[in-house]
Amino acid sequence: WVLTVTAQTPTNIAVIKYWGKRDENLILPINDSISVTLDPEHLCTTTSVAVSPSFDQDCMWLNGKEFSLAGGRYQRCLKEIRSRACDYVDEKKGIKITKKEWENLHVHIASYNNFPTAAGLASSAAGFACLVFALAKLMNVKDDLGTLSSIARQGSGSACRSLYGGFAKWIMGKNDNGSDSIAVQLADEKHWDDLVIVIAVVSSRQKETSSTTGMRETVETSMLIQHRAKEVVPKRIVEMEEAIKNRDFPSFSRLACADSNQFHAVCLDTLPPIFYMNDTIISCVEKWNRSEESPQVAYTFDAGPNAVLIARNRKAAALLLQRLLFFFPPHSDADLSSYVIGDKSI
Ligand code: DP6
Repeated sequence: WVLTVTAQTPTNIAVIKYWGKRDENLILPINDSISVTLDPEHLCTTTSVAVSPSFDQDCMWLNGKEFSLAGGRYQRCLKEIRSRACDYVDEKKGIKITKKEWENLHVHIASYNNFPTAAGLASSAAGFACLVFALAKLMNVKDDLGTLSSIARQGSGSACRSLYGGFAKWIMGKNDNGSDSIAVQLADEKHWDDLVIVIAVVSSRQKETSSTTGMRETVETSMLIQHRAKEVVPKRIVEMEEAIKNRDFPSFSRLACADSNQFHAVCLDTLPPIFYMNDTIISCVEKWNRSEESPQVAYTFDAGPNAVLIARNRKAAALLLQRLLFFFPPHSDADLSSYVIGDKSI
C-alpha cells in the first residue's frame, strides 16, 4: 500500500523583517517579525508526501528534479514530525500504522513552486511550511499550528509565518531551546481584504547572497543591526500590530517602507556590503505617495531585486500597474502580477 497527502501553502512577505539569528541551528531570530500571507493560488508550494512499506529510503523531488534531503534543516523537520506521529488506522484500506512504526517508515516527497525559487520571493518559506504541514497530516500529528510553526521555523525561519492566512507574527521567544519561538495569526485574510499586492518580478535569477549567509554576515559585522533589533523593531512591531488591527493604511505603509529600507540599510552596513534591491521603484512610489493626500502604496523588498507593492485598494493597484508599465514596458523581461491576501495552508 501507499498512503499520500497533498498540501498547498502560500508564501508570505514580511512587512517587519526578520534579519539575524541568535541561534543558527535552531533558527532563533534576534527580533520579532510580521508578514502578510499571499494568495495561495498564484504563489504557493504544493507538496505531496507518500509513505509505503516498500520505500527503502527518504527521497525528495523539487520541481521534478531529485533533491538531496541530507541537509540538517530537512532532517530536523522530518525528525520532529516523526517524533510526534500518532497511530493511524484506515479500516477500508486495511492500513494500520502505530506510533512506533512511523519511525521506521520512509517517505517520498514531491514539491513544486509556482514561482521562481530563491529569487527573493521567500520560496523557502512556502516550501518548508508546506513540507511540515503535509508530513504532519500524513503522520496524523495532533499538535496545534503553533507547534507546527516552530518545526517549520527549523527548516527556514520565515516558513513559520506561512502556516497562517492573513497577517502573522513570529514571536522571537526567549528560551534557549526555542520552545517559545513560534508564529501566531494576527488577523485572518478577510480582515483587510481591500489591500492588493502587486509583485514586480524584475529578475528570476537566483539571488547572489542567500538570506542565511547574508544575515550571518550582518550579525557578525554590522554595527547598525543591534540598534535595529533592540531599539527599532520592538516599537515598530507594536505600531504595526495596531495599524493592521485598525486597517490604518498610512501607518501600515510608513512602517512597511521604513522597515524594508532599514533592512536594506543593515545589508549595506554589512562587510562585504550586500545589495539586494532596485531603487527605481522606491523613488516612483515615494514620489507618488507624497503627491497624494495620503499614501496609496507601500513597498517592501526581501533578499532580492523583486518588489512587493501593497496598494491600499483596487483603484490604487490599477494606477500602480500603469505606473510600473512605464518602468517595465510589456516587451521587457519583468513580470507584473497582482494578488490578494491569502488563506492558510490546506
Ligand atoms: C529578507 O527565512 O529565508 O525574507 O531562516 O536562514 O532560512 P533562513 O532565512 P529566511 O530569511 C528571510 C529573510 C527576509 C525577511 C523575512 O522574511 O522576514
